[in-house]
Amino acid sequence: MDKAFIVVAVLMTAGGFHLAHTGNADKGKVLFESAALGGATTGKSCATCHDGGKGLGSSLFERKHFTIMGREENSLADVVNVCIDQPLGGTGLDPRGEEMNHLIAYMKTLIKQPTKK
Ligand code: HEC
Repeated sequence: MDKAFIVVAVLMTAGGFHLAHTGNADKGKVLFESAALGGATTGKSCATCHDGGKGLGSSLFERKHFTIMGREENSLADVVNVCIDQPLGGTGLDPRGEEMNHLIAYMKTLIKQPTKK
């Protein structure tokens, strides 16, 4: 295999990783407050119920398992999609897509760090 190929492959991998894990909290805020997110049909946005982080547990980003509205979910993206599905009456986002990353980045800014005991 030639060296240039390896360099390109490494850069592409690194770039993909970067994209998959970087959300923009400002863009996330707009989505969080949008009553059109995921084609929402109920006139509600995330902020209707979670304004300022209300109802988002402080351990949200540490948990690996979630129970939401009677369903078991294993990722935060899936939990977000349950809320888009149900209260917003929309269609879930691509769990690895840009909008999801932005939303999650914004939610991070809402969660107060758990106080150490
Ligand atoms: C009509 C009110 C309502 C709207 C609108 C709503 N949610 Fe929720 N959300 C809830 C309720 C209620 C729960 C808790 C459900 C449970 O415990 O079964 C919840 C739970 C969550 C949780 C899990 C919190 C935790 O600590 O376990 C996340 C994350 C979340 N919502 C994100 C969102 C996002 C993102 C949106 C916008 C797409 C949204 N929600 C829209 C009512 C809402």
